Order: sequence, then C-alpha cells, then structure tokens
Amino acid sequence: MKHLIKTVLASACLATAAASLVAAPAAAAEPFKIGLIVPMTGPFASTGKQIDTAVKLYMQQHGDMVDGRKIEVILRDDGGLAPETTKRIAQEMVVQDKVNVLAGFGLTPLAFAAAPVATQAKVPMVVMAAATSSIVKKSPYIVRTSQTLPQVTAPLGDWAAKNPKIKTAITLITDYGPGHDAEKVFIKHFTDGGGKILESIRVPLQNPDFGPFLQRVRDAKPNAVFVFVPSGPGSALMKQFAEKHLTDAGIQLIGTGDVLDDDLLPSMGNEALGVITSQHYSAAHKSPENKAYVAAFEKLTNNKMRPNFMSVGGYDGMHLIYAALKKAGPDATGDQLLAAMKGMSWTSPRGPVSIDPETRDIVQNIYIRKAEKVDGQIYNVEFETIPNVKDPGV
Ligand code: PHB
Repeated sequence: MKHLIKTVLASACLATAAASLVAAPAAAAEPFKIGLIVPMTGPFASTGKQIDTAVKLYMQQHGDMVDGRKIEVILRDDGGLAPETTKRIAQEMVVQDKVNVLAGFGLTPLAFAAAPVATQAKVPMVVMAAATSSIVKKSPYIVRTSQTLPQVTAPLGDWAAKNPKIKTAITLITDYGPGHDAEKVFIKHFTDGGGKILESIRVPLQNPDFGPFLQRVRDAKPNAVFVFVPSGPGSALMKQFAEKHLTDAGIQLIGTGDVLDDDLLPSMGNEALGVITSQHYSAAHKSPENKAYVAAFEKLTNNKMRPNFMSVGGYDGMHLIYAALKKAGPDATGDQLLAAMKGMSWTSPRGPVSIDPETRDIVQNIYIRKAEKVDGQIYNVEFETIPNVKDPGV
C-alpha cells in the first residue's frame, strides 16, 4: 500500500513536471502588461479617472486577448504632483512587473521624469495626456495620443487675429511647460495676423488664485483674454471670471479647450456660455463613432461622467497598443511594437488621426468651438475644422 501511494505520488509529480515542461516554451502565455500611471487623487484626479474609465471601456468593447495573448493593465496612482514618484513607479513597473508598455502620464513634468526609464528599458511609453511639444524628444520610445499645446493653440491665434472684434489681447497661462508653449504660439500667430498683445500673465501651477490676475486683465481692458490652464482648475478660473464681470466689461474669453473640458463643463454655470476654445475633442463632436463613444462611456459610468479629451487620449492609446500588438505579433519586442506604432492611422471618436512616423506625435483635426446650450446642457459646439494638424513646435 505504502509503495502504491509512493508510485502514484511520483507519477503525479512527473505529470506535473511534464505539463510545466510543455508549458515552459510558450513564453507568450505570460500576459502582455500595460503599466498605466495616472493621477487618481489630488487636483488632477479627473485626468486619471477619465483615462482609467476609457481604458476599461476599450477593453470591455475589444476583449482582453490580442492574438492569443492576454492583456493585463496595472493601474498606479502617482498623485499628479511629484515627478520623482512617477519615475519610481515607472522603474518598479519595468523591473518588478516587467511591463511591455508604459502608459498614461497626466502632466508634463511627470512624462519628462519617466522618459529615461522607457529609453533604458526599451519599452514604448504611450503618453495619453501630457502635452508640452518637446515631450516626444525626451525618449525615442515615446508615442503620444493626446495633443500638443502648439498644435491646438496655433489655429486659435489665427482665428483671433482674423476676428474683427479682437484687436488686442492679454495672455494668461499656467506657469510651466504647456503654458509656455501656448503663450509663445498664441502671441506669434495673433501678432503675425495683426493683433496686439497688451500683457502676458503667468499663474502658478499649484494652488492658483486667479482673482488678482483677472482683476489685472479687467483693468487693462483688452478685447480678449487668451487662457491656458491644465485640465482641472478650469472651474475655479471660470468662477472668478464671472465674479469679476469680465464679460460685462466687454472682454471675450478665448483659450485652449483645457479650461472648459467636458468633465467639468456640466458643473459650470452660464459663465461658460459664449467662451471660444480650440481643441481636438468635444463630447458634442458630430460623428457616428463619437455618438457611440459618448453613449458607451456614459453608460459605463451610470451617467455620472461625460467623456473629455483626456479620455480619448486613453481610448486611442489603447487602440494604438492593441493594433501594434496585432501587427507585430504576440511576442513582439518593445522595438518591434514601436515600429508598428509609427505611421498607424485610424478613426477616433475625435475624428481621423495618425501617428507621425518621424516625430511619433499624433496628427489630428483641430476644431474651433463655442460653449452653447444643447438640450439644456452646456457643450463645446464645433463650428470650424482645421484638418490634419501636426505639432508645429515652438
Ligand atoms: C501637461 O501638463 O502637459 C498638461 C496637463 C493637462 C492639460 C494639458 C497639458 O490639460
């Protein structure tokens, strides 16, 4: 009896060993891991929540298998404010989790901090949010699915210069990378078209108080104030804009779409009405793809969230990763995935997009929009399209 038990055990062990030998060569059985680093807490939590929801939506719609390989997303919150935290998380994801792709990156300083990690690990880094022009230059492994501030601002500078009611303007931007890009590009395009800049104001990134700056704008009486604030503090700026009665003083608010993003817009009051912005995405974009996207996003969040431009950065980032894996095959290396991403084109909820094979930046339509009520709710309604805009740089 004893002997029989031993034999049974031994053969069971052999069977297990044989099974693991058979399983061993199939390295592709390891999941394909996407390390998603976004702010889920703090002043920029809306960015992380929008991207995380879009990533979940993409996987719900397209499944978690690509070419026989299981896709696993590892989500980490970096809090949005400390570049060294983002860098440490990226390092942990590469070394311990052995991720195949890094993704997310809510703000420019955080993308800058993670770039050397991607280069060293030879892992593609899909920037889904951060938008300073120079980010793609920080690593040959960076591919961007969000926007760049020069790309979005240049068309608005041209539009403002052509508007007979806007002869003078003040720029008011958040004092860091994307704000500096927006300021420089707006001034160039507006003044090249004949406009005059009265003053350029910079507001700190952390804990901004817009009141005194908007008072300065009111006192200088320009025809328009051009603003860039990162997605998040827009509501505070709009509240102060209303309190200082800038519209009554005849000052038109214009800016990049970040100030009136679709996540915050439903909670803003009528002070948002009439504001002119430029951007690559509006929840009111009229296309069958976007109609389906907005409906699915709202359903997934029980109608608690409207998708904003950050969400499409995440949704399209996932599309890019899935499509690259399909093209390069389930065992693709980081370099092979990167090669597959370059030049890729598809129809996004925002319209037609492609990845410039030289710069690895997204090429997309930019829309000029006016905030208006549609069925009782405020939306950025697109009224002009500038097709296939590449990042012009600064
Ligand atoms: C950035 O930090 O690059 C950034 C963040 C939020 C935006 C735009 C740019 O809305």
